[in-house]
Amino acid sequence: MNLTVIGTGYVGLVTGACFAEMGNTVYCVDIDESKIAKLKKGIIPIYEPGLERVVQANHKDGRLRFTTSLAEAMADSNVYFIAVGTPPGEDGAADLKYVLKVAEEIGRNLDKYAVVVDKSTVPVGTGDKVRATIAAELETRGAKVEFDVVSNPEFLKEGAAVDDFMRPDRIIIGSETERATEIMRTLYADFSRNHDRIMVMGVRDAEMTKYTANAMLATKISFMNEISNLCDRLGVDVEKVRLGIGSDGRIGYSFIYPGCGYGGSCFPKDVSALIHMAEQHQLFPLVLQSVHQRNMFQKMMLGEKIAARYGTDLSGKTFGLWGLAFKPGTDDMREAPSIVVLHQLIGAGAKVQAYDPVAMEMAKKELPQAWFENGSLTLAEHQYDALKGVDALVLVTEWKPFRHPDFDAMKRLMKAPVIFDGRNQYDPARLAAQGFDYYGMGRGKSLKPLAGTGCAY
Ligand SMILES: NC(=O)c1ccc[n+]([C@@H]2O[C@H](COP(=O)([O-])OP(=O)(O)OC[C@H]3O[C@@H](n4cnc5c(N)ncnc54)[C@H](O)[C@@H]3O)[C@@H](O)[C@H]2O)c1
Repeated sequence: MNLTVIGTGYVGLVTGACFAEMGNTVYCVDIDESKIAKLKKGIIPIYEPGLERVVQANHKDGRLRFTTSLAEAMADSNVYFIAVGTPPGEDGAADLKYVLKVAEEIGRNLDKYAVVVDKSTVPVGTGDKVRATIAAELETRGAKVEFDVVSNPEFLKEGAAVDDFMRPDRIIIGSETERATEIMRTLYADFSRNHDRIMVMGVRDAEMTKYTANAMLATKISFMNEISNLCDRLGVDVEKVRLGIGSDGRIGYSFIYPGCGYGGSCFPKDVSALIHMAEQHQLFPLVLQSVHQRNMFQKMMLGEKIAARYGTDLSGKTFGLWGLAFKPGTDDMREAPSIVVLHQLIGAGAKVQAYDPVAMEMAKKELPQAWFENGSLTLAEHQYDALKGVDALVLVTEWKPFRHPDFDAMKRLMKAPVIFDGRNQYDPARLAAQGFDYYGMGRGKSLKPLAGTGCAY
């Protein structure tokens, strides 16, 4: 089949590349000219394991094409995936301006039956808005062309996106017509060979499924983070509790790792958007609001622990920071906890030496230039270089190379053997035996909160 994917970001590029890998001809469209120019040269604008090979091979074979012209792509295809961003607006609602702009452009160019697929994460009712926008453009042109709008939310995880797309847990197709459903079934049959993973439902059901999935996962994380803070105060090791509850099949082990908060381009904005949807319908989304607030506070917990130990004036102190990406396996720093920690440390006068295996280039673009210029923040070449002469290590992202470091070498490099571990990567007893002062998340070691701060969290 011939397809067009509009928006060549994390979701669009993976979607386009994986459909091309299955033999389809795919046009990837983006308004960002430099991104398209790079992709044409085989340069991948994001870090995603396995993606480079799929993109380069399919581009070379002519199945994956890059263009800034939607009209050109539409002329040679009849399924149009909308995969542009839906960032949060000021009120927390998903901003649909990019999605509806694309719908307008589709309406201006549509000249044969097509299926328009919402792959972006969009609030319930967006399918109707996309349909109305396209219909209005057709009416303006006086054109009579049939089309269907389908919701096909994406569940891939950054860091494992290609695998997730190739072997999805489920393929949700929200469709109101047999014609569109059949086209979508044919398209996805290759990803569903082992057993049927396709679930067909209404467009609104599909839109809601995506938000509910992300909100449920965020809820599990925030719940466990809240428990971890209580564990610190009660002298309980939350990691023992995690294993104890995970063994219950009704709870399970996934997504109950305590830490310094979730980030990324999905959970924070999707929970906010769901809160907004509930409020618009005169409901009080108490659980969702708490999930969101716990996460905002949780991102501040590392800074709180540091302030409780050293005071609020950190001038003269230097910290090593491991992990800038919002999670391992990606260079994405959107809503990353590292950004909050850096603001807390540098805002209190500290210097930071940071290291991340892949997000350093992203950090140069995403973080305030003034930090680099005035020497508050330096990026280290190697994870151990970030530890030279530091008062403490702050671990924010659980990249694998941080799991079993050479603690003896670390002690020699650091001014003081202190670790603030935002992802519970280390065994407190082992580190204590090696002479480290160790602070995890909920490992049963409470620092007296600073008056007027800690208690609130
Ligand atoms: N990133 C994820 O892990 C993930 C997972 C599932 C769902 N989603 C959802 O998928 C959607 C896209 O997310 P993303 O992370 O890929 O976004 P992104 O910001 O990485 O990419 C969006 C791309 O769309 C392009 N774009 C904007 N307007 C355009 C237009 N009019 N025509 C063509 N291109 C245009 C931008 O230039 C950009 O390259 C969002 O709704 C997101 O919530 C993301």
